[in-house]
Amino acid sequence: MHLRHLAVTDFRSWEQAELDLEPGATVLVGPNGVGKTNLVEAAGYLATLGSHRVASDAPLIRRGAERAVVRGAVVHHGRELHVELEITAGRANRARVNRAPVSRPRDVLGILRTVLFAPEDLALVRGDPGERRRFLDELLTIRHPRYAGVRSDYDRVLRQRSALLKTARGGRADLSTLDVWDGHLARTGAALLAGRLELVAAIAGPAAEAFAEVAPTSDPIALRYRSSVALQEGHLHATTRHDGGLPATNAAELEPLLLDELARVRRQEVERGVCLVGPHRDDLDLMLGPGPAKGYASHGESWAIALSLRLASYRLLCADDVEPVLILDDVFAELDTRRRRALADVARRAEQVLITAAVDEDVPEGLAGTRLAVSGGSVAHSTRTGSSGARQ
Ligand SMILES: Nc1ncnc2c1ncn2[C@@H]1O[C@H](COP(=O)(O)OP(=O)(O)OP(=O)(O)O)[C@@H](O)[C@H]1O
Ligand SMILES: [Mg+2]
Repeated sequence: MHLRHLAVTDFRSWEQAELDLEPGATVLVGPNGVGKTNLVEAAGYLATLGSHRVASDAPLIRRGAERAVVRGAVVHHGRELHVELEITAGRANRARVNRAPVSRPRDVLGILRTVLFAPEDLALVRGDPGERRRFLDELLTIRHPRYAGVRSDYDRVLRQRSALLKTARGGRADLSTLDVWDGHLARTGAALLAGRLELVAAIAGPAAEAFAEVAPTSDPIALRYRSSVALQEGHLHATTRHDGGLPATNAAELEPLLLDELARVRRQEVERGVCLVGPHRDDLDLMLGPGPAKGYASHGESWAIALSLRLASYRLLCADDVEPVLILDDVFAELDTRRRRALADVARRAEQVLITAAVDEDVPEGLAGTRLAVSGGSVAHSTRTGSSGARQ
């Protein structure tokens, strides 16, 4: 698929910007701070309803404006769909598809698919478990949009159950109500957990292969899902198998495991007033050789692991028969020659790749494509030597 048109209003630093885009490579070049990343962030938002830089929507709205609007025209199998999102701080966002309102913004998920690699991805390796859970859930939702519903159901149940545990802690709650919420948590949690386990099984092999290509002299990496539920050993180790297979770990099997675990920790939960079991406590362990990457991998290796996770995401989505738009935000400058080459190889073959860079020299020579010069509030076609064309 490709994004044919991107338009933003009051998004980040942009009062207004419109870009006509084509398949192949498009490089946005311009000095630091002119709004290059803001534009690709908008494209990523259309695909995921989230930003790769911030957890909340408020910073996406231009200072002083009430709402931001992002519009995109997406071409897939010769068919064009228009998506429009209105982002309002503190209120539910609104979405339109082909100019008709849809009931929930998440109904647009799946129309545009992107894989975005950015400097922030270092946090996938070095950051808190929440970063890796977000990586898994975002990819899960891009592959299977129905998981957006599963995620939001789970979050709602978790909020309500956590609130109940807090009151229980003060001795003011009816514990039989907690049983009901245990049931809800186990049901929605099992659905999310099953999705994540299936995803980790599918991506573990491609990630290890990508890492071996970009960092052949380092120890191999392995991915392992660590659950707050005592899964059988077989389940855990199967996630590193390269054939992508996992012994039938479906939601129906996981639900009773979650329920048992909730019963086991009930007293502790009431004492502490927090929900101790469920996918919100899990992590994706990234192993480098014999131990964890976190705390041990070098800066370059950490980068290579993050890159491998994104390359694997890209390959997985391609294997699903929907080639996503690849977005590379300011990443070439950070990579050594081998990694640049590996990434440039993938980018060159991609149906569409959007790249941001501060200077031309950061973009590998072989990645010639459309060059857009971004400067104080405008985007213009230009050539590598710097001559500019029409304003958009
Ligand atoms: N909500 C907002 N309202 C107004 N301006 C904003 C908002 N959010 C970010 N900005 C501004 O956008 C600019 C950063 O834009 P962006 O991150 O796209 O730059 P960039 O061109 O990618 O730069 P670099 O080359 O350094 O990565 C900053 O000047 C920042 O102050
Ligand atoms: Mg940037």
